Amino acid sequence: MAQQEDVFKKIVSHCKEYGFVFPSSDIYDGLGAVYDYGQNGVELKNNIKQYWWQSMVLLHENIVGIDAAIFMHPTTWKASGHVDAFNDPLIDNRDSKKRYRADVLIEEQMAKYEDKIQKEIEKAQKRFGDAFDEAQFRATNARVLENQEKYDALHKRFQEVMNAEGGIDLEGMKQIILDEGIVCPISGTRNWTDVRQFNLMFKTEMGSTADGASTIYLRPETAQGIFVNYLNVQKTGRMKLPFGIAQIGKAFRNEIVARQFIFRMREFEQMEMQFFIKPGTELDWFAKWKETRMKWHQNLGFGAENYRFHDHDKLAHYANAATDIEFHMPFGFKEVEGIHSRTNFDLSQHAKYSGKKIEYFDPETNESYTPYVIETSIGVDRMFLSIMCHSYEEQQLPDGQTRTVLHLPAALAPVKLAVFPLTKKDGMPEKAQEIINDLRFHFNCKYEEKDQIGKRYRRMDAIGCPYCVTVDQQTLEDNTVTLRDRDTMEQRRVAISDLRGIIEDKVSITSLLKKLL
Ligand code: GAP
Repeated sequence: MAQQEDVFKKIVSHCKEYGFVFPSSDIYDGLGAVYDYGQNGVELKNNIKQYWWQSMVLLHENIVGIDAAIFMHPTTWKASGHVDAFNDPLIDNRDSKKRYRADVLIEEQMAKYEDKIQKEIEKAQKRFGDAFDEAQFRATNARVLENQEKYDALHKRFQEVMNAEGGIDLEGMKQIILDEGIVCPISGTRNWTDVRQFNLMFKTEMGSTADGASTIYLRPETAQGIFVNYLNVQKTGRMKLPFGIAQIGKAFRNEIVARQFIFRMREFEQMEMQFFIKPGTELDWFAKWKETRMKWHQNLGFGAENYRFHDHDKLAHYANAATDIEFHMPFGFKEVEGIHSRTNFDLSQHAKYSGKKIEYFDPETNESYTPYVIETSIGVDRMFLSIMCHSYEEQQLPDGQTRTVLHLPAALAPVKLAVFPLTKKDGMPEKAQEIINDLRFHFNCKYEEKDQIGKRYRRMDAIGCPYCVTVDQQTLEDNTVTLRDRDTMEQRRVAISDLRGIIEDKVSITSLLKKLL
């Protein structure tokens, strides 16, 4: 675990050192849980967005995109339920003055019991080798049984307080924290305040106070921009059910526990798609979208074992199915995407609050109804983090040296080809520029002439550039260059005229999209 935390710290510093992610307003020592993307980060992020956008809008004839405003009419958030119910239960420790999410403290306590069980299993696995029977061990080992019992009891109590009639039972939640002896990680004390609800939406004012400013919110999800545009898109696009609307954009949440770098941010970006369907078909579509989205993730080649579904036991009152796609981060399996069957809740609520009829006339059955919705919702920043975590490697080389390399999927890499003149003379820089001038229209190229070639290779490995080309004396004679592969570090001599053919297909988003079909 400690080793994994070290790796994570290294990834965070790597992101800063190589221009991927900087703390926001860094010269003022940053702003909590807000980050800026640097020169390489923005390219990687744009490629992730392109991969998602094209997989939705280009590969599906019945999915179109929109770009709605961040500011929305305040009634939107009343109708969606966010004004009344988009809350987190918070608790303060009086000694450290630190604030926590009460539900997260309890979940972490449950994770501790799970960890203890896992450690016993790992120890026994080592002891018994191939003869180890995990099911039998779980059913008989005293320490495992004891921790499982504690876990089950806590899980049951937690479910009860979370699902209490009339909303979360805040007193019950505090009682669990006291009964479990949960201490503040900073002060080490149990001097807790009561648990209170805290609305996560950021508020601001629109208009001058003189003419009566109104309170508006920074959107906490992009989805509502899609719902309020359902009629506009359906009518102007003459869309027939089933059809989808996709959108990428910023969302804002005043998170209480903002930790783990870009995993939980206060300003982040979502890629959401609402798929409008006929009522009664939602569970079939839910299953289809689960499969489609998992395929999209696994298509990046990070290994199926690093993903899992986490089906929700507790469903929001308007949902009839929900799951998360979780990715194996250095700090455990964590949600990257949510897939929700949201019934007709949102459209019905907007119809009620706006007084407009929001329905679909089905020409096949001659009836009108409010469509049901399957939503797929993924965080760009979490996707970015999962890619960085999986790609980062400190590699021991056969010659005893180490190199830090990002094995980014070539189609997502910020720079696809680096071109180096071996020396700064004899016309080599000009030849290198000539290659770039020719290829820059097809993919992102970078010119580098500083330091010896070995160092230049290392710098390119560190930003995940899949190919490097060196222009040397021979190039000037026969128009061939050395092409070096990031992952294998193999070098081969190729003609300049072949470079585009060799590289373009491997680094294009199209190459990823084709594998989805
Ligand atoms: N419209 C549904 C919705 O917003 P959600 O589960 O709250 O659902 C969807 O969020 C996705 O947005 C998450 O799976 C996650 O990837 C991302 N996300 C949510 N809160 C985030 C935060 N504070 N920082 C970064 N990403 C976040």
